[in-house]
Amino acid sequence: MPSPSLVIAVDGPAASGKGTIARGLARHYGLPHLDTGKLYRAVALSLLRWGGDPDSEFAALRACEDIANLMDDPELKSEMVGGIASRVSAYPAVRVALLERQREFAGSEQGAVLDGRDIGTVIAPDATAKLFVTAAIDERARRRHAELTTAGLPVHLEDILIDLKARDERDAGRDAAPLLMADDALLLDTSAMSPAEALAEAIRLVETRLAT
Ligand code: DC
Repeated sequence: MPSPSLVIAVDGPAASGKGTIARGLARHYGLPHLDTGKLYRAVALSLLRWGGDPDSEFAALRACEDIANLMDDPELKSEMVGGIASRVSAYPAVRVALLERQREFAGSEQGAVLDGRDIGTVIAPDATAKLFVTAAIDERARRRHAELTTAGLPVHLEDILIDLKARDERDAGRDAAPLLMADDALLLDTSAMSPAEALAEAIRLVETRLAT
């Protein structure tokens, strides 16, 4: 019987370091990687470009039809798009519309690494290893601020902090697939770690799962 594919679920709040860790894990284990936040960001960007109302679930659902050519758009990274992504991701119809492609990716024969908010709980509940990546909110704000400043976007640390708190509340407080640590996930707090240290710890945690 062929050995089961390695599927790694990486969940956590915004700017926790989960994206960097997921990319690093994918490189380390030679697996394809899906940043599922990009799907919700693409829905938000599609809505913005077309002028649809983010308060309308129906408009957000329509925007889901139009995301294929937006997946590499540089504007996906902006704070504005991230904020709207957090709002539209609370709509059950949007989550259902994006579910199948994520499940397909997670079910691929070659294995996969996916990062997001509900990978370990909803998208890939049978993942081989689940990590829940977090960091103190001040540290997350500092990282996001440094990232945006480096990208040439003038932003205030205070605004980022307010924005991150609002996003945490929305992502964790919604009814549909809220940000939640799966019962069998391993917690990784990256507050005091460099990106390289966080990746090394993530690999160590995955290895402990593979050993059991
Ligand atoms: O990870 P990110 O900041 O790029 O995600 C943008 C928004 O998308 C986030 O605020 C919540 C939503 N999201 C989600 O609801 N479920 C996921 N699996 C990934 C992202």
